[in-house]
Order: sequence, then structure tokens, then C-alpha cells
Amino acid sequence: MTRPSLIQRLAAAHAERAKYALLRRLRTVEAVDGAHIRIDGRRLLNFASNDYLGLAQHPALREALARAAAQWGVGATAAHLLGGHREEHAALEEALAHWTGRERALLFSTGYMANLGVISALLGRDDVCVQDKLNHASLVDAAQLAGCELKRYVHADCTSARRQLDTRPDRAALLASDGVFSMDGDVAPLADLAALCNAQNATLMIDDAHGLGVLGDEGAGSVAAARLSQDDVPILMATLGKALGVAGAFVAGRASLIESLVQSARTYVYTTAMPPALAAAARAAVDVARFEDWRRDRLRHLIAHFRAGAALHGLTLADSHTPIQPVMIGASAAAVTVSAKLENAGFYAPAIRPPTVPEGKARLRITLSALHSESDVERLLDALKAALA
Ligand SMILES: Cc1ncc(COP(=O)(O)O)c(C=O)c1O
Repeated sequence: MTRPSLIQRLAAAHAERAKYALLRRLRTVEAVDGAHIRIDGRRLLNFASNDYLGLAQHPALREALARAAAQWGVGATAAHLLGGHREEHAALEEALAHWTGRERALLFSTGYMANLGVISALLGRDDVCVQDKLNHASLVDAAQLAGCELKRYVHADCTSARRQLDTRPDRAALLASDGVFSMDGDVAPLADLAALCNAQNATLMIDDAHGLGVLGDEGAGSVAAARLSQDDVPILMATLGKALGVAGAFVAGRASLIESLVQSARTYVYTTAMPPALAAAARAAVDVARFEDWRRDRLRHLIAHFRAGAALHGLTLADSHTPIQPVMIGASAAAVTVSAKLENAGFYAPAIRPPTVPEGKARLRITLSALHSESDVERLLDALKAALA
């Protein structure tokens, strides 16, 4: 008997992906200015970034980053619990807790790590994790890492979620959902999920990576927009690398929950703290996101403009009122072709294909930003119409 080669097996999987137009392509961005990026020497209008409020290049963030780097140096040099936790981290955690109306917040280096850390700290082999079918991969992976039973429910369907909880009435249960779905842009039925969890004694966790900064008063997120308290949604997670334009993530909730996570979330304990200068930049971003309401007003306007224009052009859009506006294509090869045509016309909107989205649901994930203008949106719509013809 010969042992199979792991490297050959991976190469075979790679060839299979290529056959079905599913290969992902790594592109290097050569320059960034406003809503434009340069790739392969061409300046493209970017409709793929998560910089919804246009903060990634904001002068206040740059200044905070430079000031903190001058004061603290670059690396945090250690894990939070071993001397890496600097005043910049503490101040950011306080600002995030205050913004989201939670007692305490805890920083993680990435959203992926936050989800892995929280879910694997909470759940074990005898527990059940109930998740929306369209949840982000990091939530699904987290349940797998925890070793619990993972049960998926029909997208945004509380009856289906209840059925899944009902199959294990005796087990400790976490219900986890994206607040705003990352590839579809719709908002989870948050109030119904909170009521369901309350009735079922299950714990609700919302990943608001795409809601924070964008939805709710002062951009406090989808949970705030749904007027849900810390007790309705005991575990709130959000990222700092999307609307806040920086990097990293946090989990917020009751102080007792956060203190337990400090002890037991392995992706918090066993990793170097984020650079303090990034924490300083993120704190500057919180202030801009909270108080520069015009950015959200502009986004809302652009979303409405895009949707109205798309309807006039006869384009089919998803039911999304957030900056994530997917244009459904279907077949992966067709999505790649449309994306390439858009690029020829000066727009960057890569095709999103399985396994990131379900089979047969390849799309262009168009994202809008406060950096875009009305005329940018109109030109994109014209190019989309031509590319889809
Ligand atoms: C819903 C959701 N959760 C978590 C993450 C992971 O966050 P991060 O990029 O900070 O790892 C993402 C995207 O990256 C996301 O879209």
C-alpha cells in the first residue's frame, strides 16, 4: 500500500477548481486614491471594498496611527495578558463598549479570531450551535473547532431556527447569525431571533462586521438599529477592518462575560496583541464614524440611487438596503466574464463564486462607499448593463 500524497491531492483539487472557473486570483493593488485603485497599471473605480464610510485613508486615522507609533513603537511585543495590553487598547475597548451600549469590550486581532475564540470558549462537545445557512465562514469554522453539534437553519427563517433548537431542547445552545449578511447585504431578523432565544433559553450571538458604522444611530450597528439591549443580544461581535477602515475586531457584552473570555478564549490568550498604533487609529475611526453622520447620509443616498438606477436598467438586485448590493449572475464562468468586462470598462468588481456563496449563485458583490459619487454609480450601472447584455 502506498501512502497518498497530500501535495498531489491538493494539486488535483486545484485542477478541479480551475475546470469549473472557481480559481481565485490574487491581484496586487499598486496604488490607492479615494475610491480608485490601480491594478496592472490601470486605474479602476473600486466597487469591492468594505470601506463603507471611506475612513481607511482619513487624515484623523493616519495622524492617530503615526502619533501612537511615535509614542509606542510598532509591535505590542506580547500577548495582552503578558504585557502587550497598552493604554491604547484599553481606551479603544472603552470607546467600543460605550458606542455599542455594552458594559465591556474585548479586542481581538481579527474578526475570524474573535469568532473562533468566543464560540470555542463557550461551546463543547455536548452543546449545540444553531446558525443561519448564510453565516460567515468564520462562524461555521468556530463551531467546528468547538466540537459541538452544528445545526444550520434556512436563511433568515426563525421558524427553521426554532425547529433546529427544538431538536435538542436539553442541550446548552448558542444561536449565531451575521447581523448584515456579508455576501447578500440583508439584515437578520434580529428582534425575532432575540425573542426566540429568550423563549428557548438559548444564547444569541450577532456578528455585526458589516453593520457597525453603517446602521443605527451614530452607526452603532444593526443590533442598535433593532433597539436590542445587551440582555437581548448578550454576545455582540464586530470588526474594525470594514466601515472603521482599520483592522481587528472586538466582542462586547456584560463585564462578567468579557472577564470569562479573557480567561478562556484561546485566540485572545495565545496571540500577540494588535499593534497599539492600530488601536489608536481605530479609536480615531470610532469618533469619525459616530459623529460624521453625513457619511451615512451619503451612503443611504447612493444605495437608493444605485437601486433606482438598477431598476430602470432592468437589473435584478437582492433585497438589500445596505451598502452590499449583490448583482446575481448564477454560473461561475458567467460571473467571471461579466467581472472582466467591467474591468475593461474601468471598474473593479470581482466575481464571488462557490464555496463563498451557494452553488449556482455566483455574483458580483457590489459595495458602495461614502467615497463614491452619484456619477460613479451611474457609470457603473451603464457598464453593468453593457456587460450583462
Ligand atoms: C460577517 C463577517 N464576520 C467575520 C469576518 C472576519 O473578519 P476579519 O476580516 O477581521 O477577520 C468577516 C470578513 O472578513 C465577515 O464578513
